[in-house]
Amino acid sequence: MRTFRAIHTAIPMSRRTLTFVCQNCGAAFSRWQGKCEACGEWNTLSEEGGERVAGPGRKPAKGRLFALEALAGEAQNAPRLSSGISELDRVTGGGFVRGSVLLVGGDPGIGKSTLLIQATAALARAGHRSVYISGEEAVAQVRLRAERLGLGDAAVELAAETAVADIIATLSEGKTPRLIIIDSIQTMWTDTVDSAPGTVTQVRASAQALIRFAKRSGATIILVGHVTKDGQIAGPRVVEHMVDAVLSFEGEGSHQFRILRAAKNRFGPTDEIGVFEMTGSGLLEVANPSELFLSERDLGRPGTAVFAGIEGTRPLLVEIQALVAPTSLGTPRRAVVGWDPSRLSMVLAVLETHCGVRLAAHDVYLNVAGGMRIQEPAGDVAAAAALVSSLANAPLPADAVYFGEVSLSGAVRPVAQGAARLKEAAKLGFSRAIAPEAGRGETIEPGGFRVAEIASLANLVADIAALGRAGIAAKTDG
Ligand code: TYD
Ligand code: MG
Repeated sequence: MRTFRAIHTAIPMSRRTLTFVCQNCGAAFSRWQGKCEACGEWNTLSEEGGERVAGPGRKPAKGRLFALEALAGEAQNAPRLSSGISELDRVTGGGFVRGSVLLVGGDPGIGKSTLLIQATAALARAGHRSVYISGEEAVAQVRLRAERLGLGDAAVELAAETAVADIIATLSEGKTPRLIIIDSIQTMWTDTVDSAPGTVTQVRASAQALIRFAKRSGATIILVGHVTKDGQIAGPRVVEHMVDAVLSFEGEGSHQFRILRAAKNRFGPTDEIGVFEMTGSGLLEVANPSELFLSERDLGRPGTAVFAGIEGTRPLLVEIQALVAPTSLGTPRRAVVGWDPSRLSMVLAVLETHCGVRLAAHDVYLNVAGGMRIQEPAGDVAAAAALVSSLANAPLPADAVYFGEVSLSGAVRPVAQGAARLKEAAKLGFSRAIAPEAGRGETIEPGGFRVAEIASLANLVADIAALGRAGIAAKTDG
């Protein structure tokens, strides 16, 4: 008994654990190994000093008592502040909520810093204290960009800092800022952990400290996060769980369109998108994205179809382009940009099985124009139309839009918000739609807009084949 006590007190009161943390998913291991067992990535474990833990000899501190509240209290509407950029407000759900923390991710060079300096300047002009902390660029660089954007006169407070403790201490002084930008979270560090900046442990600890500050002070904090090759926010996915909203800023490098999308939002919808155009004088809001996405349209060429889609509450028309060409290799290629590759495989399989379209000896390329990414299944019919049009070398009618979901049986299923899609198409000068409906036939909407209702993909294939030089063997029965 006596020896046991002696050993017991010899253990230090607190110690640091040394762990190996996966830089991809944040899982911690006690020893190094080549593969992370949690996410399956190779060579992602790196040694990090963990957070301080209480030694086994230490008694847990006595907790402070707090009052519990009834759920049925007065519900406060989250007080929001409009950013002054309506496409940004649309994605956040109507403005910045007090004390909330947002994470904005995106590829390097996509325009995150540009968007956020524009937002801070707009708030500063509206008389709110807004602060921009850059861990990546010098103050002069940020200032230069702001000047180029014509925002040089806005009362934004700038700093190039990376120490979270110093940032919080500085911002606790004076009037609480309404908006704080941290560009980027990967450059921040705190001395409560031993790891290098950018490691999972540091990013997590820095984010935690900043989130605590936001909740305490009521400031809105936007964290900029880098993304990895596969589009995930680099470092810990755990930061995504800690923040109130995760927004991703996307776009194809060669296009000027940029799309802001919410992947998570505690205070708003996640299906709304904000559309911007990158110009020489910064990001411009695009109030009517359909016009923009269709402006470069290849009219009257085989292999293009206009899809009448819905993003959140907003209808959006985009062009789907397909190229189907005989393959020169043993295994035909399937490449897709802006659409789910597994949905492409599914549509191709349905075309082969139920519509007699032979594609086994053809390469298939599918592209959504303008850097858009289609996520709803309603895009199936438009993709199929573009594919068959390319294969049959038959241009689709230039005044037609397509939408509908294809089921594995080859049937075309109805999709939500059909009326909104048709309205948008009519507004943009289209005069007919190829769309699903319960009863087959053609209906004419007021204003001369025609809806050709198709019940199966085979109907669509037959119609397109009839347009072209009968290049494919198509079954006409549904
Ligand atoms: P930036 O906001 O620095 O990107 P991120 O912070 O996401 O890395 O944007 C950089 C790109 O944007 C760069 O390629 C140049 C382009 N750009 C414009 O086209 N116009 C502009 O007015 C600005 C400021 C940047
Ligand atoms: Mg940047």
